[in-house]
Amino acid sequence: MKALVYRGVGDIALEDRPDPQLQQPGDAVVRLVKTTLCGTDLHIIKGDVPTCQPGRILGHEGIGVVEQAGAAVSQFKPGDRVLISCISSCGKCDFCRKGMTSHCRTGGWILGHLIDGTQAEKVRIPHADTSLYHIPDGVDEEAMVMLSDILPTGFECGVLNGRVQPGGSVAIVGAGPVGLAALLTAQFYSPARIIMIDLDDNRLEVARRFGASDCLNAGDGQLVEKVMALTGGLGVDSAIEAVGVPATFTLCESIIAPGGDIAVLGVHGKPVELHLERLWSHNITLRTRLVDAVTTPMLLKSVEAGKLQPEQLITHHFALADILEAYDTFGKAAENKALKMIIEA
Ligand SMILES: NC(=O)c1ccc[n+]([C@@H]2O[C@H](COP(=O)([O-])OP(=O)(O)OC[C@H]3O[C@@H](n4cnc5c(N)ncnc54)[C@H](O)[C@@H]3O)[C@@H](O)[C@H]2O)c1
Ligand SMILES: [Zn+2]
Ligand SMILES: [Zn+2]
Repeated sequence: MKALVYRGVGDIALEDRPDPQLQQPGDAVVRLVKTTLCGTDLHIIKGDVPTCQPGRILGHEGIGVVEQAGAAVSQFKPGDRVLISCISSCGKCDFCRKGMTSHCRTGGWILGHLIDGTQAEKVRIPHADTSLYHIPDGVDEEAMVMLSDILPTGFECGVLNGRVQPGGSVAIVGAGPVGLAALLTAQFYSPARIIMIDLDDNRLEVARRFGASDCLNAGDGQLVEKVMALTGGLGVDSAIEAVGVPATFTLCESIIAPGGDIAVLGVHGKPVELHLERLWSHNITLRTRLVDAVTTPMLLKSVEAGKLQPEQLITHHFALADILEAYDTFGKAAENKALKMIIEA
């Protein structure tokens, strides 16, 4: 089969690989229909994720059709149309039973990281019963691809951890696909104000269409003053950091209102400054999280009911044969007005 392989820092290629086989009774082999690229794949290619070794097939998102199911798989059979979660979870270990599936003893974020992933014609899914979802008839298949990772990440790591409240004020720093997913799902709670901050005016324009009340370009300076002016001098109740660099964390610390919640969902590779000299008396809460994708069933129902339209995040389509071109387009997102790329397998 054809597969996109990480060969070392800055080096990816479309290779011919043997088809994946069942290895454990709980495995399924899924034939991919659609997959996509994630900002995290770019981090891997840059060498930011050294646990991902050369030779790995990338990708942790997608939908497909079950081709083979192991003897212990009871919820899926060949021919079923399925959504693949970015998190593989056994459902039985101590972390899974606490709902912290991202830390599953025999799973977690392993797809396209520690085991071969979804940017291929076929993929082996461990713990299939608890890592796949049936796709309901009639729902938009491409919307489903957004449920593998970015919607649960924006919602769990951003909106839930930021304790977005009705009538509250929210700032989302970073209007990439994940920040925009937080913007879409924050609206479940009807906050009074959602301020979106990014360097890319095109992404800010998309954010405005998706329901942001205010959009600020981080390159224009005086961000803290501008956020304060929009919030009566108090700052925001929820600050969601969706970039993963020290400057955006510092910004969140500077704009959080007394009693507020900072939610960090960006992948950070460098230390940040924690300004306790200012924040100690402000009753703030800081939370981090690796996505658990435990809210996927809820998000799936919201999409099915038409309350959430994550297919709005898709800007480009490519065939698997052209996936290198897709990476190129995605890597120059601002130039190409790119958000999510659909890859047809
Ligand atoms: N916690 C998790 O489990 C989890 C899961 C998935 C992704 N992530 C992480 O979430 C982050 C966002 O993902 P994405 O796919 O949307 O990434 P992305 O790179 O597409 O988006 C990041 C956005 O930040 C903007 N930006 C960069 N520097 C900025 C600055 N100084 N001020 C304001 N905006 C700035 C960029 O213009 C871009 O639009 C990444 O760090 C990704 O690795 C975390
Ligand atoms: Zn991802
Ligand atoms: Zn587990």
